[in-house]
Amino acid sequence: MNTAFISRQYRVRTLSESDVPDILALCEKNRLYYQYCPPFVSARSIRGDMTALPPGKEAADKYYVGYYDGEKLIAVLDLILAYPDKETAFIGFFMTDVSVQGKGTGSGIISELCGYLAGTGVKKVRLGWVRGNPQAEHFWHKNGFAETGSAYDTEKYTVIVAEREVCYGV
Ligand SMILES: CC(C)(COP(=O)(O)OP(=O)(O)OC[C@H]1O[C@@H](n2cnc3c(N)ncnc32)[C@H](O)[C@@H]1OP(=O)(O)O)[C@@H](O)C(=O)NCCC(=O)NCCS
Repeated sequence: MNTAFISRQYRVRTLSESDVPDILALCEKNRLYYQYCPPFVSARSIRGDMTALPPGKEAADKYYVGYYDGEKLIAVLDLILAYPDKETAFIGFFMTDVSVQGKGTGSGIISELCGYLAGTGVKKVRLGWVRGNPQAEHFWHKNGFAETGSAYDTEKYTVIVAEREVCYGV
């Protein structure tokens, strides 16, 4: 996957160690998210997320990317290709900067991403949200994701699994 093509509106590139302060600044303003999905973000947890992989996956299928409006980081996306099966892409994390929220920014990014993925042969996009988090649940419903009926428990919260089919040009 060429990250440069997943958005026409924003510049997208892989994030690395030197970007951790900017990622932290974006994340720590989203306090509601961490109330549902503790612990609260730190530079260390971001470094862990940058390399975290689901079982059986390799780094080549992971895209931990930043969306830039000019020089400003406005969104972070963690995408795993071909997980849990060949035709499915998995969003492990998605967050926008509070300064751009409520203006269609997140929906625009997800819509462009789904259209791009469909063009590469992906059929479905899957993700999870923490049960009870209204912001995440409403956002993903608004963007066409529906519960699969599966959920799993972690020590501190329950994750609801959801997915949507993707179509080329949509
Ligand atoms: C969810 C998130 C990505 C939305 O980004 P955005 O740039 O505001 O996206 P949009 O403007 O396209 O969509 C906003 C929608 O989010 C939902 N939403 C946002 N804040 C909400 C809140 N406090 N309560 C309920 N729904 C909320 C609504 O569906 C809203 O749509 P509406 O304006 O039509 O009501 C952003 O709020 C965020 O980064 N939150 C923290 C991280 C997170 O929850 N990520 C998703 C789970 S991995």
